[in-house]
Amino acid sequence: MPRPPCTNWHSYSALADWALVRITGPKEADGERRVAVTPKIARRLIESGHSVVVESGLGEAAGFPDRAYLDEGVVVSADPLEGADLILVVGPPPPALAARIREGAALVGFLDPFAADDLIKTLRDRRITAFAMEAIPRTTLAQSMDALSSQASAAGYHAVLLAATATPRFFPMMITAAGTIPPVRLLVLGAGVAGLQAIATARRLGAVVSAYDIRPQVQEQIESLGARFIAAPVDESAAAATGYAKELGDETQRRQQAALAEFVAESDVVITTAQIPGRPAPLLISREMVEQMSPSSVIVDVAAAAGGNCEVTRPGEDVVHEGVLVMGPTDLAGRVAVDASQMYARNVAAFVERITGDEAEFSCDLEDEIVAGACITHEGRVMHPVTRRALEAGQ
Ligand SMILES: NC(=O)c1ccc[n+]([C@@H]2O[C@H](COP(=O)([O-])OP(=O)(O)OC[C@H]3O[C@@H](n4cnc5c(N)ncnc54)[C@H](O)[C@@H]3O)[C@@H](O)[C@H]2O)c1
Repeated sequence: MPRPPCTNWHSYSALADWALVRITGPKEADGERRVAVTPKIARRLIESGHSVVVESGLGEAAGFPDRAYLDEGVVVSADPLEGADLILVVGPPPPALAARIREGAALVGFLDPFAADDLIKTLRDRRITAFAMEAIPRTTLAQSMDALSSQASAAGYHAVLLAATATPRFFPMMITAAGTIPPVRLLVLGAGVAGLQAIATARRLGAVVSAYDIRPQVQEQIESLGARFIAAPVDESAAAATGYAKELGDETQRRQQAALAEFVAESDVVITTAQIPGRPAPLLISREMVEQMSPSSVIVDVAAAAGGNCEVTRPGEDVVHEGVLVMGPTDLAGRVAVDASQMYARNVAAFVERITGDEAEFSCDLEDEIVAGACITHEGRVMHPVTRRALEAGQ
């Protein structure tokens, strides 16, 4: 039975007589191994009545060859944007790709809306309805779509494995005929999703773990994972009304560094994960603090992409400073691309189901707080207040 024609805001489609959404996964920018559409998720979307097209080679680096997509009924194409209604991506599409998305189509992915750069202007001017996964409200109702959490979890896990292979020490205590080796002392700074996963992973590997966060309410979660909570209070209300940490003033930041210095100095491994949404990462470890650490210590700065929590960090590089290895990986989740993609694709599919619905038609229902929260551009306007302000400030 043919479906009735699409009647809502999105009515154009290569299959316009059918209420069928043509969903596309184009190749990501260089260096991104994750995908937004896995074969399994493609099957789920097809069963909901959509058609799914992916670019040939999309999933190769994530362990999903073209054959795996074809087996699930996906069309594999050299030009997946042709006729695409809904484009699903992991990272912001390169400008050349964004410029080829047809007017009126929709885009879903991590779009870096705080940067409010040329991509946002292109999306606005081309009347593309863009939804940023990082702008989805962090509410219980939206938990299945919370890609920030799923990817932070992957990053926190892998950061500890990086440290474990980079440190010249054993993580667990070793009792051997050649003597007893004490466990590694590992410090986690920032105990959000990534930090808590780092604590859990390090504990499983046998490290003795301490952790700190500016939000005192995380003490219980840290302790429930078997780590010691470090109280290094700063005399400023740290949590904003949203539950997120606030940016600190320079003087408060210096006091925080002074309070943390002794804990950093006595650690063999430090994993830093502190972030403030839309702002540069707070500086928790100064150059002098690195110099107080034992040579052969390791710092993995999970916040490197946002500038880093350590003054020595260089995003995307490993630096040795006075014998201390400071790692600034910016692709941690991508290094566990199979599982990170599986989680991300599930988050995206849950959001697609919210903006499509039972009849597999689009709707951009701005009365829906999740849809409205994630919507960055729509019908030629910038909808997201933070993005709008950033754009105005930059003009
Ligand atoms: N479904 C939900 O309701 C849901 C899901 C995930 C997260 N959240 C909430 O979102 C908030 C942020 O979580 P996230 O994991 O994305 O965090 P994040 O990645 O934004 O930041 C990581 C951690 O860094 C900490 N931090 C920031 N500045 C700091 C500083 N100067 N010193 C030390 N620590 C600092 C933050 O408090 C946070 O715990 C939390 O309140 C969390 O409970 C809610």
